[in-house]
Amino acid sequence: MSRIFSGVQPTGNLHLGNYLGAIRNWVRLQDQFECIFCMVDLHAITVWQDPKELTRNTREVAAGMIAAGVDAEKHIVFNQSMVPAHAQLAWIFNCVARIGWLNRMTQFKEKAGKHKENASVGLYAYPNLMSADILTYKATHVPVGEDQKQHLELARDTAQKFNSDYGVEFFPIPEPLILGAAARVMSLRDGTRKMSKSDESDYSRINMTDDADTIALKVRKAKTDLHPMPAALGELDERPEASNLLGIYAALSDTDKEAVIQRFAGQQFSAFKQELIDLAVATLGPINAEMKRLMADPGHIDAVLKQGAERADAIARPILAEIYDIVGFLKP
Ligand code: AMP
Ligand code: TRP
Repeated sequence: MSRIFSGVQPTGNLHLGNYLGAIRNWVRLQDQFECIFCMVDLHAITVWQDPKELTRNTREVAAGMIAAGVDAEKHIVFNQSMVPAHAQLAWIFNCVARIGWLNRMTQFKEKAGKHKENASVGLYAYPNLMSADILTYKATHVPVGEDQKQHLELARDTAQKFNSDYGVEFFPIPEPLILGAAARVMSLRDGTRKMSKSDESDYSRINMTDDADTIALKVRKAKTDLHPMPAALGELDERPEASNLLGIYAALSDTDKEAVIQRFAGQQFSAFKQELIDLAVATLGPINAEMKRLMADPGHIDAVLKQGAERADAIARPILAEIYDIVGFLKP
């Protein structure tokens, strides 16, 4: 049986990278898989979150997913802290995964920066919680952006080590699904850094809540270089900003970079940017409107999440009971 699990942090500013790298793929995978989609609030507090903002962002991310087309009736949409199995299995994985594995995680190094000693213990152990998210449902496939590939490899290693330590064939080895021409959307201000919720410049990203005028302004201001539009794929390695905008255009129009190059080769960026604006507005406009409509009724969003959590818990609980048995814990 195939089951999808994926998560997104409710930390504000859902952006085009989240949409093209993750959420849009989730929507498309819904017909083929049983899906569980989670607002990972336990992950969010690995760095400081204002409590009121966290609550608001949890609802906003849920609204964003549903507005983008995730079907919360047919599939499961919920927030992580409502289902205790995530934290329970994370502890067990803290005791399975090795310190050496976590030391290699580039996201920790980036997020902790120079002040590693001052980072929370949770930020360091973050990947083990992510492994638990996936494996507490025995999920087989995990659609994510490219930045999560290393965490997925750790989840696979952890599943394997648990199985071999305890001499069982219990956990499936989950497969990453990294899809589309924009699995790694970069900042509009710097083509070498990924588009991120936490970038201090709002001009670095297109938010799913941006209106048409804001999208147009951000795309017009997006950094390019002094050359005309690239004429060959080979040029892109040296031109990160052009490569990024081309990738976004390709993803939004469901083609690849090669096709976009053929269309715009040698032209000025301005004409291309206008088309990119039209595409982005046509895609995000309706999602944005629906998000606003949903956010006007937080009680409804809370009810959707609560109902999702009950269904998630019903899957996770018996799996966790088996894990307790394998580990040698007395039955709860
Ligand atoms: P996060 O915002 O870090 O919780 O990420 C949620 C999902 O969006 C994950 O699947 C990420 O891999 C994906 N994602 C985040 N940033 C980007 C980006 N700049 N490009 C593509 N995918 C991204
Ligand atoms: N770490 C992911 C991110 O920041 C979010 C996440 C948490 C996740 N748990 C997950 C993604 C499980 C996929 C599966 O993007």
